[in-house]
Amino acid sequence: MSRVLVLGDDGHLVGRINVMPGTQVISLSAERIQSPQFDLLRSLDPQALPDVVFFCEEVPIELSLELAAAIDEAYPLVDLVLVGDLPAETVLVAMRSGFRDIISTDATDNHLEDVMRRAGNRAVDLGVAGAPTPITVPPEESRVITVISPKGGVGKTSISTNLAIGMAEVHPSSVVLVDLDLQFGDVASTLDLTPTSTMEHALQPDAAADNLVLKTMLTVHPSGFFVLCGADSPAANEKVAAPQIKRLLHQLSMQFAVVIVDTAAGLDESTLAALEATDDVVVVSTMDVSCVRGVRKEVDLLNEIGLLPASRTLALNMADRQTGMKVKDVEAVIGLPVDVVIPRSLDVQLAANHGQPLMLRKKRGGPFVRAIGALVDRLHRQGELTDSKHKRLEVA
Ligand SMILES: Nc1ncnc2c1ncn2[C@@H]1O[C@H](COP(=O)(O)OP(=O)(O)OP(=O)(O)O)[C@@H](O)[C@H]1O
Ligand SMILES: [Mg+2]
Repeated sequence: MSRVLVLGDDGHLVGRINVMPGTQVISLSAERIQSPQFDLLRSLDPQALPDVVFFCEEVPIELSLELAAAIDEAYPLVDLVLVGDLPAETVLVAMRSGFRDIISTDATDNHLEDVMRRAGNRAVDLGVAGAPTPITVPPEESRVITVISPKGGVGKTSISTNLAIGMAEVHPSSVVLVDLDLQFGDVASTLDLTPTSTMEHALQPDAAADNLVLKTMLTVHPSGFFVLCGADSPAANEKVAAPQIKRLLHQLSMQFAVVIVDTAAGLDESTLAALEATDDVVVVSTMDVSCVRGVRKEVDLLNEIGLLPASRTLALNMADRQTGMKVKDVEAVIGLPVDVVIPRSLDVQLAANHGQPLMLRKKRGGPFVRAIGALVDRLHRQGELTDSKHKRLEVA
């Protein structure tokens, strides 16, 4: 399996590489790379480095040269390819910055395959290819984030999917989103994914016994994270027991820095099992009385049974002024401060119907995306507070 990182917004190139057998492509937008908060070098996981990085035209050439030099110095085995039609003097500078190949924007498929093959051969020469890279994350460095609500249709899946996209920008290829709505999960359709394996396969003994087998059950989202999609049939997982869920989350947290769990409404057995493994819980409420009261009862119950993680975020979704409730009314009923207010926006639904959550939009903006950004930031801050850790899984 070759890991390929594409920097820029060249969807056509991503598509062409994606169809090559044995490749796994992740792309980062030019806007993201240029954002002052983003540090590409730090975001690369040394244990799961890409084999090849393509720098597309949308990334300013000065930045590409600077990033290439930094990657080349830190990780000389990573192959760097510049895509563009450049003047001769820039080609020379690019080669000095560590680029090993420069290809035209209209390079043929054969040329592209050659580039990929050369990268593979170079890895073999250097004795690093062949063995799958074991990705292991020390347990204390991974976070399990579970999104819950007592009610259906309040935005758990919308928040989970958009959160995964936001988290993957900071931890490319080290985020996994798990669809734990075992009966009617719709993460795959919300992200326009067609999985070949689902939760049903991931819970089989062969995957439970081997992390690498489990990883093959995941579906890659083009924006750089993995998804464990729900089964097609609502009956497929009816016999799943809590220990299986705990083991699954434990396995994933050994391989990913961030595990995001989308759940069904209420507190079914699998959600309770997930909460036992959860570091940060995101409790979703809307601004209607029935939901707010339900959240209060859910929080109280979790408190009583000791399953409410210390790190909790109350997210108020579909907020608008027309509900007749105010944020302080919600806080008074639930007895917790509202941490993130996510406004109602018709775009959320339109985007989800097209399998393209709003966080994927190139030109970001709008209150929903800002609110998800605030949630991402908050969860990062929580992650840095080590004493916010909830109980760790004990899996036999
Ligand atoms: N902030 C928002 N503004 C407008 N529509 C939203 C917002 N958040 C979610 N929605 C829409 O509300 C509907 C329900 O959202 P979603 O599927 O995310 O809820 P859910 O809690 O996961 O539901 P379920 O319990 O059925 O799994 C979807 O059509 C979604 O697009
Ligand atoms: Mg849902």
